[in-house]
Amino acid sequence: MTVGGQTETARRVLVLNGPNLGRLGKREPSVYGTATYADLTVTCRQAGRELGFDVEVRQTEYEGELITWIHEACDNAIPVVLNAGAFTHYSYAVMDAVKMRTAPLVEVHLSNISAREDFRHQSVITGAATGIIAGFGLHSYVLALHAIAAQIAESAQKEPLIVRPLAHTAGEPTAAGPDVGEPDAREPDVL
Ligand code: DQA
Repeated sequence: MTVGGQTETARRVLVLNGPNLGRLGKREPSVYGTATYADLTVTCRQAGRELGFDVEVRQTEYEGELITWIHEACDNAIPVVLNAGAFTHYSYAVMDAVKMRTAPLVEVHLSNISAREDFRHQSVITGAATGIIAGFGLHSYVLALHAIAAQIAESAQKEPLIVRPLAHTAGEPTAAGPDVGEPDAREPDVL
């Protein structure tokens, strides 16, 4: 991305998918649609590019691998779009990992989980996430990427500028009173 003639490094975003999501297209098309996992990847990368993100899409059948990826995001303040698949409904381990997040994490679902079987109405993850988007097919992911962009923009506006006084040599009074320095580093913020 180019800003004011300077090249900026795009911010990384992870799109993490749990079990059975690699089978999109073949899997219950009446529920999940006919778009494939490859389509999901292209859609997310394209939407991310438009928002200035470098989006990496991953999928796993394994709870431990998904948790390890969430740890990676926590350790590096990487925003996450998370579709944990069926883990959503019972994995306290995934929930505990999400609790450690250091950047926005949006839970997504292709289907409207509240309109399906009773066991899908409960998500153990939502309470630890920034928010949830469900029921819009692949567009749920696009909306989640927009939500992350909005969160980042909002928190950048809210961040207080830390203004440090300039150092003066002892015994040399200043005519102008207390000096303020250049705006300095911004404190990191958990969104
Ligand atoms: C899902 C909904 C879950 O209930 C289900 O187990 C999935 C997919 C969705 O995207 O709609 O695997 O997360």
